[in-house]
Amino acid sequence: MRISKEEPGEGTPWRRDLRSGTGLAGYDADMSTASPNDVTVVILAAGEGKRMRSRQPKVLHPLCGRPLIAYALRAARMVADRLVLVVGSDGDGVTAVAGPGVAVVEQRERLGTGHAVQQARAHAASGTVLVVAGDMPLLTGETLERLVVHHCATRAAATILSAVASDPHGYGRVLRQGGRVARIVEERDATDDQKKISEINTSVYCFDAARLWPALDRVESNNDQGEYYLTDAIGILSRSGARVEAVVVGDPDEALGVNDRKQLAAAAAIQRRRILDRLMLEGVTILDPATTYIGDEVLIGADTVIHPHVTIEGDSVLGNECVVATGCHISKSRLADRVTLRPYCVLAESVVEENAILGPFCHLRPNSHVGPEVHIGNFVELKKTRMGRGAKANHLAYLGDATVGERVNVGAGAITCNYDGFRKHDTTIGDDAFVGTNVNMVAPITIGEGSYIGAGSTVTKDVPADALVVERAQPIAKDGWAARWRARHGKPRPGETKKDS
Ligand code: UD1
Ligand code: MG
Repeated sequence: MRISKEEPGEGTPWRRDLRSGTGLAGYDADMSTASPNDVTVVILAAGEGKRMRSRQPKVLHPLCGRPLIAYALRAARMVADRLVLVVGSDGDGVTAVAGPGVAVVEQRERLGTGHAVQQARAHAASGTVLVVAGDMPLLTGETLERLVVHHCATRAAATILSAVASDPHGYGRVLRQGGRVARIVEERDATDDQKKISEINTSVYCFDAARLWPALDRVESNNDQGEYYLTDAIGILSRSGARVEAVVVGDPDEALGVNDRKQLAAAAAIQRRRILDRLMLEGVTILDPATTYIGDEVLIGADTVIHPHVTIEGDSVLGNECVVATGCHISKSRLADRVTLRPYCVLAESVVEENAILGPFCHLRPNSHVGPEVHIGNFVELKKTRMGRGAKANHLAYLGDATVGERVNVGAGAITCNYDGFRKHDTTIGDDAFVGTNVNMVAPITIGEGSYIGAGSTVTKDVPADALVVERAQPIAKDGWAARWRARHGKPRPGETKKDS
């Protein structure tokens, strides 16, 4: 068994050295004679997932931002010497999630879990075969490790991971005789008495390869679904006198299988709480865990404060001492230390450097880069725009495909006209430039360093450094025009009527 660290990268605080955990240390004595080496993990992910009622393979449905199968892969990697993924004919997406180093085999016809495991036979001729269902996102690597270690230490032919469920409905039940596992019966094949059993099969098993394959050859499909059940291999081994062990999972949540969207939501709620608990233990203040949604891949530094109704998704990274106020939505973005997001900011695929203050109500669209100490105020939208250190756009601006220099001031209502109906064009604004209110910058255009653009101007030509550009029509003022206009319509000024009465 390989002791590997789970992703993401080493040094992240929540990673643990497994050797100091609940696993290997306690088994060292047995390990000398039954070393859990040569572990092939077979992950089953070829099922149709009919109960999801989806066009998408079940194991690609996201849970806290990662596809279901990514959780099984992460747990499996902690114990696997070899990984085999069994996919269906629509398995390209699943294979892509697995990435390199995983043997992928196709189960062309979905004839059941036993048949699915058979497909991996060529990859697991000897050693220990650990079978994991791809639809169990809450299963941990530590539990897999405990299972493998127990299996090897007891030299069992098979060891199942079972759980005592408060609601066993839908799961296979573990039937025991004289305390020993005798067989597993599926819910749909169970008698009323068997349905009362609360010990369930989690769909995670360890097998001695030499005994698994002959047993699987004997599995038949004479059940309610006409499928080859892997669970039947347990009964076959037990009846033949082989030793079948069970390890009961400590936290029954780990056993939760996702077969329909209700179970997907139930598992997501538990995983969401796990993520929040982990972050809080790492020093992040979460004011209202009940309304905070943080994805599994997100990293957040200590002393950052997350206010209620916040969503942070994707591979977002937030530094230390940031403030994320109510209603913010952050996706695939990076925030450096001490960034303040005032309420209701929306950020996607963007970078914000230290001490920047954003919002309330601003929108960073993909590929925006906000420099240090920048201020972005309400109703400001950035798209593929870079803002240099200390630049400001405090109200009602749109900056698209722009490079904004340091200390630039962008006035209220200023916009880049970056689209001509066919192509996008760039705007460059030099350091210390002052863009007045309601300025239209028609791209492609360069605004020189230190220049001023007067309020209301539409600039279509490059502005030289330190110049003033004002583009306005001459005002026309006609004395008494308004009074004559009202008189013609027989209407006094509203204020005058009040005074008269
Ligand atoms: C299975 C177990 C049940 C257990 C439950 C735990 C069997 C017969 N039953 O039931 O005892 O309590 O898991 O969640 O094993 N798969 C394939 N190919 C197939 C069929 C399934 O790869 O032909 C894969 C699925 O993608 C899934 C896993 O095997 O990841 C389990 O299949 P699923 O249909 O979810 O089985 P359950 O009904 O949940
Ligand atoms: Mg299932």
